[in-house]
Amino acid sequence: MLTTSPDRPAGTAGVPDLIDRLRRSGLQGRGGAARPVAAELDRVRAAGPGGVVVVNGVEGEPLSRKDATLLTTVPHLVLDGAVAAATTVGAPDVVVCAAAGPGLEAVRRAAGERGGVDGPVHVHVVAAAPGFVAGQESAVVAHLDGFAARPRGTGVPLWRSGLAGRPTVVKNVETLARTGLLARHGHQPDTVLLTLATAAGPRVLEVPAGSALDVVLDREGVATGAGVLLGGYHGTWTPSDVTVPLTVDAVRAGVVRPLLAGECPLAVTAVVVGHLAAASVRQCGPCTFGLPRLHQLTLALAAGRLDADGVHELRRTVGLLVDRGACRHPDASARTVASALTAFPAEVAAHRRGACLAARAVAA
Ligand SMILES: Cc1cc2nc3c(=O)[nH]c(=O)nc-3n(C[C@H](O)[C@H](O)[C@H](O)COP(=O)(O)O)c2cc1C
Ligand code: SF4
Repeated sequence: MLTTSPDRPAGTAGVPDLIDRLRRSGLQGRGGAARPVAAELDRVRAAGPGGVVVVNGVEGEPLSRKDATLLTTVPHLVLDGAVAAATTVGAPDVVVCAAAGPGLEAVRRAAGERGGVDGPVHVHVVAAAPGFVAGQESAVVAHLDGFAARPRGTGVPLWRSGLAGRPTVVKNVETLARTGLLARHGHQPDTVLLTLATAAGPRVLEVPAGSALDVVLDREGVATGAGVLLGGYHGTWTPSDVTVPLTVDAVRAGVVRPLLAGECPLAVTAVVVGHLAAASVRQCGPCTFGLPRLHQLTLALAAGRLDADGVHELRRTVGLLVDRGACRHPDASARTVASALTAFPAEVAAHRRGACLAARAVAA
């Protein structure tokens, strides 16, 4: 298991076949996009020596706690993974960018305890800028370069020119903890690490990949209302009568947010879109104009004030945002709304008549 691994620096600089181990394990990034890790390290290695490995511990997703938990409980494992990755790609520097709090303090302490196990690799620890968009990889690099933490729209990939113009790879904290296990032992667990958002607060748990969502929720004693938001604010809705296997592709950034009994999925979607619209730094059209309109329309739908034309405009606005913007923010926000419309068609129809099925189910 990830969080219960012994946390001592293992001296993983110079694991000879790390990229092969990553490829064989099929490790996908755990920061949201689920991209294969081996291919990204290969690319930055091919870009030449002198690069940087950035550990993304921003965790801007409001419901997520898994990365702070890992930084607090197994900071050396995360650093072992980052140093092994850096050595493999010929990067002399690892930069950890983590949200203020116990995770940042723990990894700062751990960096000071490494005692020369990292060979020529230097580990630096920097406090992250706050905010949802500050965790996007080019925004992290902009912050580390001393600029505002905004995604850049240059089209130049980070592996070609990232931090201080150097080849850069940005990896999520959990991804690097798993890389650390691969470097230490040659394998990493086939599990997903989740933050379960419950009424009593967030709970971090690790379950076998492919576990059935309803079984996990039952075991955790969490009763579910109309559905579950999987993957956090950039995630997708699934109705509670559908069985979902908890794979990396399904859980993405790892957040599981069940609706409470009586909680309306469309009202929660409106709150989520409100947060996402406010989080945008408004440097591209889709975020500046599209997200505020998406928020207005989802609010109106949740309040039962949207007629058939309004729902049509909502669907059109979703379509206009997909594959637009300098980063995935508008795209992913639109997909969250699209998934609500797909998962809860009866609720959408009820709201067009000014009713709410979730509220009615509790009153009955
Ligand atoms: C708006 C936005 C916010 C993001 N926030 C985070 C974050 O807080 N932490 C994170 O690891 N990845 C975040 N990502 C994903 C990163 O851009 C990047 O894909 C990730 O750090 C790569 O690491 P991985 O391959 O290990 O997943 C965000 C992406 C977007 C579009
Ligand atoms: S799409 Fe939105 S969040 Fe992304 S860079 Fe453009 S304005 Fe910023």
